Amino acid sequence: MDFNFTEDQLSIQAVARDFAQKRIAPVAAEFDAKGEFPLDNIREMGALGLMGIEVPVEYGGAGMDSVSYALAMIEIAAADCAHSTIMSVNNTLYCNGLLKFGTEEQKQKYVRPIAAGEAIGAFALTEPQSGSDATAMKLRAVKQADGSFVINGKKSWITSGPVAKYILLFAMTDPAKGPKGISAFLIDTAREGFHRGKTEPKLGIRASATCEIEFTDYRVGAEDLIGTEGEGFKIAMGVLDAGRIGIASQAVGLSRAAYEATIAYSKDRKAFGQSIGSFQMIQQKIADMKCKLDASYWLVLRAAWAKQQADKNGGKFSTEAAVAKLTASESAMWITHQAVQIHGGMGYSKEMPLERYFRDAKITEIYEGTSEIQRMVIARNETGLR
Ligand code: CAA
Repeated sequence: MDFNFTEDQLSIQAVARDFAQKRIAPVAAEFDAKGEFPLDNIREMGALGLMGIEVPVEYGGAGMDSVSYALAMIEIAAADCAHSTIMSVNNTLYCNGLLKFGTEEQKQKYVRPIAAGEAIGAFALTEPQSGSDATAMKLRAVKQADGSFVINGKKSWITSGPVAKYILLFAMTDPAKGPKGISAFLIDTAREGFHRGKTEPKLGIRASATCEIEFTDYRVGAEDLIGTEGEGFKIAMGVLDAGRIGIASQAVGLSRAAYEATIAYSKDRKAFGQSIGSFQMIQQKIADMKCKLDASYWLVLRAAWAKQQADKNGGKFSTEAAVAKLTASESAMWITHQAVQIHGGMGYSKEMPLERYFRDAKITEIYEGTSEIQRMVIARNETGLR
């Protein structure tokens, strides 16, 4: 048991913290208000190695471990949740899936530019009528005599969809086989038959762009199948296990920012002749915020460590990832709620970032598996029952 970080882990944490505080925090409110995608910052994050942290150096990444990724995500999210959403999808849902299941050629061609931050990757699983029930997807990829596939249908809620160059797409190739009839494909958005649909106006993470995408007779060669035919659902679930650690880290960063702002405000703000932090009702909230923040932080690190062990030795980390995501996201919602309350009118005002933290926290309980899905995953894994 060792609670110390390695030099590499501390160094990427320092790089992320420096960029987050100097370059992201000062512009976060403006990008949120405009709902504008922070393309320049994302490119610079790529140059710093933050868009492919766990991607080996030979594929354009930083070649670091999962704990490093979690630490960097926490720092970016503490400055702005939208930046960390773009970073998370790029790092885990896109790069991680291709690294694990892609061929050497696919990795060279499709991971390298995305890990280096030269272009942006996305992940397309959700459809207008299927979110939590992911196997109910309708988008079809029909195999042709020459081994290629023709894709038709719609995906929705695609994070970075409006700007993505490549997308890891899940499509039904054999509906009769249910989950085993789903396959994964690499989509080049520049090809004919790919369309971007309406952009979602959102409550939070407004600077991260989200849209529908549609395919009309989009043709993809057999060389762009990721993994084997019918392996898509397992790929999606495996990738989401890793993605959930990213979202849990994001929730921790957001919680930390709200907590630190609250500590400062509770000392500074006076009422009835005292700092409001002297009042027991505020102290109780602060103590509960601290307990939830610390519990979330250590559960995130445990999940990241469990993933590292699984990457090296095989095995699963679904439960650790789900426990971390559930705890961290529900804590983020609670902590940001209390932070707004303690700040009073200033918490509700756009003069301070608390209302943004509160709006941003909600999505962590929804995307990459709702809290209800995390509970289902945990209980199924613990009991072995379905
Ligand atoms: N790793 C590998 N394989 C897995 C797995 C995992 N974590 N979980 C399930 N599987 C396998 C199962 O073993 C099973 O295969 P076998 O029959 O060979 O054993 C197969 O997948 C089907 O599993 P289930 O029967 O458990 O499937 P289910 O229909 O009951 O669904 C679920 C399980 C957990 C509810 C799943 O559908 C799920 O996680 N839903 C949530 C989807 C989700 O998270 N969506 C987020 C969208 S992406 C997003 O939000 C991105 C963004 O923009 C930020």
